[in-house]
Amino acid sequence: MTVPSDVAARIRALRKQLNEHNYRYYVLDDPEIPDAEYDRLFRELQALEEKYPAQVTADSPTQRVGAGPLKIFGEVRHAVPMLSLGNAFSAEEVRDFGRRIAEKLGLSEDEIDFTAEPKLDGLAISLLYEAGVLVRAATRGDGITGEDVTQNVRTISCVPLRLRAEAQRPWPRVLEVRGEVYMPKAGFEALNERQRRAGEKPFANPRNAAAGSLRQLDPKITAGRPLAMFCYGIGQVEDGQLPDRHSAILAQLKDWGLRVCPQIRRAQGIAACLDYYRDIGERRSQLAYEIDGVVYKVDRIDQQQALGFVSRAPRWAIAHKFPAQEALTRLLDIDIQVGRTGAITPVARLEPVEVGGVTVTNATLHNQDEIARMDLHRGDTVVVYRAGDVIPKVGGVVLSRRPPDARPFVMPTHCPVCDSDIVRLEGQVIARCSGGLFCPAQRKEAIKHFASRRAMDIEGLGEKLVEQLVDRDLVHDPADLYALSVEQLAALERVAQKSAENLLAALEKSKATTLGRFLFALGIREVGETTAQSLAQHFGDLPSIEAADLDTLQSVPDVGPVVANSIYTFFRQVHNRDVIDKLVSAGIHWPKIAVKKPATLPLAGKVIVLTGTLQGLSRSEAKQRLQALGAKVTGSVSKKTDWVIAGEAAGSKLEKAQGLGIEVLDEAGLLNLLQISPASI
Ligand code: IVH
Repeated sequence: MTVPSDVAARIRALRKQLNEHNYRYYVLDDPEIPDAEYDRLFRELQALEEKYPAQVTADSPTQRVGAGPLKIFGEVRHAVPMLSLGNAFSAEEVRDFGRRIAEKLGLSEDEIDFTAEPKLDGLAISLLYEAGVLVRAATRGDGITGEDVTQNVRTISCVPLRLRAEAQRPWPRVLEVRGEVYMPKAGFEALNERQRRAGEKPFANPRNAAAGSLRQLDPKITAGRPLAMFCYGIGQVEDGQLPDRHSAILAQLKDWGLRVCPQIRRAQGIAACLDYYRDIGERRSQLAYEIDGVVYKVDRIDQQQALGFVSRAPRWAIAHKFPAQEALTRLLDIDIQVGRTGAITPVARLEPVEVGGVTVTNATLHNQDEIARMDLHRGDTVVVYRAGDVIPKVGGVVLSRRPPDARPFVMPTHCPVCDSDIVRLEGQVIARCSGGLFCPAQRKEAIKHFASRRAMDIEGLGEKLVEQLVDRDLVHDPADLYALSVEQLAALERVAQKSAENLLAALEKSKATTLGRFLFALGIREVGETTAQSLAQHFGDLPSIEAADLDTLQSVPDVGPVVANSIYTFFRQVHNRDVIDKLVSAGIHWPKIAVKKPATLPLAGKVIVLTGTLQGLSRSEAKQRLQALGAKVTGSVSKKTDWVIAGEAAGSKLEKAQGLGIEVLDEAGLLNLLQISPASI
């Protein structure tokens, strides 16, 4: 297709604008237009390119995820080796470094200019630009040969696919830029949360996450990972000039559109370097990215050249490391904590260990799956690290150091606080204490919920008051509320005689409620207002709900297996039944509910199982209509089942029905059943 010249011009203009906005956003950190406007321009370009595919170029901003997955990464030989850095772990070692340099250069230490830079905790990457276009990206590898990760690096939004033509100086024909690809702390936390939710292994730290994300054979996966890059140097350069100071080279890279860390400073003499170290060290936790130290580099390129290299590292630069953020220690025990909503969290008790300057004795282990994934045993030697400089985490086990008597962790079946069953609903990661009303760990929340407006609506019983009542041991469960006296209430902070009297009156008033509200007030997991209402309507009285088995519960509209399980477990806890009895004895009452007598309905007493796909109506619709006719629709086939309705592709339930000799109906048979109107009987 021939392309109208105005279209070609528009495409060029859009690309130029998008590149410039990208530059302002990522490099200058000074966006000019809202994200939505950027997206609009982007979509316009995408639409034009879709219409005129011949116009697509590899460096178009739309082409970040290009080819499909690779089989393996290619090998790249670095034209200029990628070196590493010597390390200093104390101010003294940094001063030694300064003295060595000063001596070699025949200068005094304070005459030497340095740049001081954060030492980014990611992985070193080389970007090769030819004629201003990104043609290759490679990992450091062993410094001589690395891996070709071009298609993955192209997905990192802040890496320009083309250098800026608007720059002050033209770029060299061949320009290799080096820097660190890393994962910002926030992105790392979000990614790990995502991994956990998907039941996948979280990454131990942002560096592993960055490396793991870049080493994906499928660039689509990399594109979904929050990676970023800061450039800190150059490699191969052909046909072009660069400034004669490192700091000026970085400024030049920035002008060409490459992202440079904004925390880089010039420092005159070693004392200024050490000031920088202290300053960044103090601000470390506020930085958006992880660093493991700082790097000092001699700023003048001619001085760098005079200093040269020792083995694999330059003499003109050194990494001044922060104290380790990772340490090994022993896992003494795993305790169980119960949260305010009943969530059960295993916590590692550790032999005290210094990590990044703080003593760590505990670390959360999140949940049972996390423990299983790491295969933690009591007595294991574990890696402890502090990510984002705050919360200590257990990163993994050193299996080779597992003592023979190490014991695997077994999740308790009962709440360590109240001894109620611990339940973990299907498909959920978090296990919970089913103690609800009774569990001291959940007491405050349970009582606040009980008193809330849409539950028992106890006017004047606010959050602060509940906290005082529980803290002073006046209230253990909601029933205790109804035993409070004016004297007890008036003795609380900020409660006058009058408000104590009002509260007592409100408590009295709340006793006249409805069964739906009462059920909701009990705070049964998964039972919101609507479900509570349906339960009340369906069963009509409390004893029937308490006695209902899983199948019966599931015959209530909107109650699936998860909710049924939660209700069932709740009423199986002796403490919960005790609290309910106490509440009823205290005088809580509700009007009788007239339940339509199932016997008057045509399908009353019939137990039906639906399986397979129905064509004419959805399964939940079929269920509702059958229930409306009085049938009990259950999830599993048993001897009690009267009919199995089998749609398309029915599987094991159909087989079971046939095995048990239960009558099987097809969709037509179902419709027949549904046509029976109450009047026809
Ligand atoms: S310069 C010849 N600058 O540290 C100098 N490296 O141990 C080469 N790194 O592989 C590196 N931040 O991955 C330099 N501001 C920085 C850095 C930095 C992190 C990493 C880089 C390199 C390793 C050297």
